[in-house]
Amino acid sequence: MKKTLSILSIGFLVWACSSNTEEQVQTKAETATESNPGASVARVRKTSELTGLMLQMHDQLKAAKSYIEAGQPIPDSLKWDFEAIKTAQSTKPMGEKKNTFDGMASAFLAHLEKTINNPDIETYNETVDACVTCHQSFCTGPIKKINKLKISK
Ligand code: HEC
Repeated sequence: MKKTLSILSIGFLVWACSSNTEEQVQTKAETATESNPGASVARVRKTSELTGLMLQMHDQLKAAKSYIEAGQPIPDSLKWDFEAIKTAQSTKPMGEKKNTFDGMASAFLAHLEKTINNPDIETYNETVDACVTCHQSFCTGPIKKINKLKISK
């Protein structure tokens, strides 16, 4: 049983930087519960602070996308504060890559601010590009998913 759990944890660490969908994760979590009824989904699924913020950013940009596409202003309820990505704990320690990460995070946050102040298609797409730039160095799995946030002109 202990072995099963550690294999699962490895699976989830890999998942953190993969393109797997929520549904697949759910299935894995259910399997874990079946083979080990004591294990709750929350205990099996290891979500880092950074992953949580990333998922929030993804959802907010997705919502913003539909407003921008419709030529409407982004509602106040969607105004975001994602400075915390610089201090959030990641699944794997970044070690000496932390400086690179911070630089890319600042560049991204600057684009994000521009988009909030001036939500046109071009600035918005630049923000999505800034997500992808960092992901090319740090976490290639979700790039396909992130690119879907782009608005085609
Ligand atoms: C400065 C670098 C950086 C920027 C900018 C960035 N990401 Fe990430 N992202 C990461 C890292 C690193 C992880 C892995 C987090 C972990 O494993 O703790 C990640 C994880 C993710 C994940 C995977 C979450 C999961 O299911 O495990 C998604 C989706 C994601 N980012 C979307 C985005 C989107 C959308 C943007 C732009 C709005 C963005 N990211 C901007 C570095 C970045």
